Amino acid sequence: MSVSGVDLSAVPAHVACVMDGNGRWAARRGLPRTAGHEAGLDALFDTVDGALEIGVQWLTVYAFSTENWTRPRDEVRFLLDFNRSILAARRDEMHERGVRLRFIGGRDRRLARSLLAEMDAAAELTAANKRLTLTVAFNYGARAELTEAVRRIVASGTRPDKITEHTIRANLATSDMPDPDMVIRTSGEHRLSNFLLWQVAYSEMVFLDVLWPDFSRTHLFEAVAEYQRRERRFGGLDR
Ligand code: IPE
Ligand code: IPE
Ligand code: MG
Repeated sequence: MSVSGVDLSAVPAHVACVMDGNGRWAARRGLPRTAGHEAGLDALFDTVDGALEIGVQWLTVYAFSTENWTRPRDEVRFLLDFNRSILAARRDEMHERGVRLRFIGGRDRRLARSLLAEMDAAAELTAANKRLTLTVAFNYGARAELTEAVRRIVASGTRPDKITEHTIRANLATSDMPDPDMVIRTSGEHRLSNFLLWQVAYSEMVFLDVLWPDFSRTHLFEAVAEYQRRERRFGGLDR
């Protein structure tokens, strides 16, 4: 069976997205950058619906990086407030769709308690949902995640010769998730910008020129179709 060119028997279990290009989308329209972030929200929800439609089980989206704190204060503040209001406004809708919401990233003092409380409430409300896990990477950076993992392993007193790849994986924020099968980055940039560095070791990378606010499920389906044309070898020979 297929939906819009997607073979439903070979859908990637885990799709990760670097939602990039909001600022440029706004600039092209003579709007403030924040208008691009607002417009990016519809793209995210359409992507979630598209993922549900074709049966993607894990969708992980990069919403705010550890490096995004270097942006102008007003933009940072907007992004923090915006994320809090989205959560309050849309979590019930996600819940009705059977989406389990989760967050990965640093819970440091720069994040208001009310934002952390909204995140926790959304995660708790949707914890038992099974159709799709939507993980929002917020105040996330892979180097910070790996540094934290090293700290925890050292603090646990594990003997160096007992540390395996499994030990590291088990101490990442994504410990119970499969690695992404595919990473999509929009806006024509060809880089990871500190997203899931450990987990993407064998992910298929799909770079699209479309700016995130113009992204929709149609682009998701095209990216999945592209993924399905690829041959994954994991270092072995053709299978
Ligand atoms: C992605 O869009 C959203 C965040 C990083 C928060 P950008 O804000 O990076 O938009 P561009 O890349 O400047 O166009
Ligand atoms: C990556 O986009 C982070 C998010 C999408 C949240 P950036 O726009 O911050 O990345 P760079 O600065 O272009 O590498
Ligand atoms: Mg950007």
